[in-house]
Amino acid sequence: MTGGTADERGFARLENLSGAFAASRVLHAAVKLDLFAAVGNGATAGQVAAARRLDARACELLLNAMAALELLEKRDGRFALTAASRRWLLPDSPRHLGGMVEFEAASWPLWERLEEAVRGGQPVRTPDMYQNDPAEARRFILAMHSLVRARGDDRWVAENLPLEGACRLLDVGSGPATYPMAMARAHPGLECQVFDLPATLSITREVLAAEGMSERIALHTGDYHTDPLPDGFDLVFLSNVLHGEDADACQALLHRCAAALKPGGRVVIKDHIMDRELVRPTGGAVFSLMMLLTTRGRDYGRHEYAAWLQAAGMEAPTEMALPSPPFSSSLLISRKPG
Ligand SMILES: C[S@@+](CC[C@H](N)C(=O)[O-])C[C@H]1O[C@@H](n2cnc3c(N)ncnc32)[C@H](O)[C@@H]1O
Repeated sequence: MTGGTADERGFARLENLSGAFAASRVLHAAVKLDLFAAVGNGATAGQVAAARRLDARACELLLNAMAALELLEKRDGRFALTAASRRWLLPDSPRHLGGMVEFEAASWPLWERLEEAVRGGQPVRTPDMYQNDPAEARRFILAMHSLVRARGDDRWVAENLPLEGACRLLDVGSGPATYPMAMARAHPGLECQVFDLPATLSITREVLAAEGMSERIALHTGDYHTDPLPDGFDLVFLSNVLHGEDADACQALLHRCAAALKPGGRVVIKDHIMDRELVRPTGGAVFSLMMLLTTRGRDYGRHEYAAWLQAAGMEAPTEMALPSPPFSSSLLISRKPG
């Protein structure tokens, strides 16, 4: 039952918001200290501390906070995994979210500089898409793979995006190729190609090899601002790419994507698609600040995408929202006349 007056609930919400970073840090520390695997099939705080060489008292405080936040259960002094932590936080689970948690933990110092970014309007790190440091590129690309796999966006798209009649797919800014792998598995006749930057593709190659999909997905190395895209496609897929670019670059890229299509082909944009006020979905408005900190982009509204697509010679887009929760994004699908 929800207690208190509307004012009291409003106060509690504010207070929680102000301290919400502490709960995030509990999760980040637990993943970085590999505590979920240490709890495994059940353990006391002393056993976890010994297994991970941690201070016993401090480890118990962290485990207690994890139990309070429903990341673990605690009974008679023993800790156990919840169904959710077993599925998403055990490192050997196929739906492990750990890559995304580690990336978000590494983004913590950037968020400390939010006021600086708002004052100056500039990203607080070089907006290099993590290409300049192989370790950063790996963390970034494996984070995308982990989030999409854990949540299931790839399977949802492969099952729900109508692909009949499509023979050739180009995924621009594909990252770990999670989506084309799912689409290739669901549609054995589909020819899939991806286009991305070199440091990203070195990780993509590893992911494809580990998944036994190297033969199904062809890779093109390039910068979509300056290098020609391959052409003759039935479908060009752009997932979580445009939010990293400013409005001019988005428009230029959509022109290039339109040119990469056969007549009658479709561009599919997958992203947070914002309302006209740029406030909903909530996650999209907050994520725009992550883009402020690291890129020249933000999440864009459906009215902006519609105008850019039509300026690129495409038809007015139709929208398919992925069910929320767990998803928070939509597909905008726009056809090239002909
Ligand atoms: C946020 S990730 C999205 C990955 C994937 N599409 C997904 O949704 O999981 C953005 C991707 O765009 C790629 N990218 C960014 N700038 C690029 C550029 N100028 N040329 C080619 N690829 C680029 C990055 O390397 C990265 O793989």
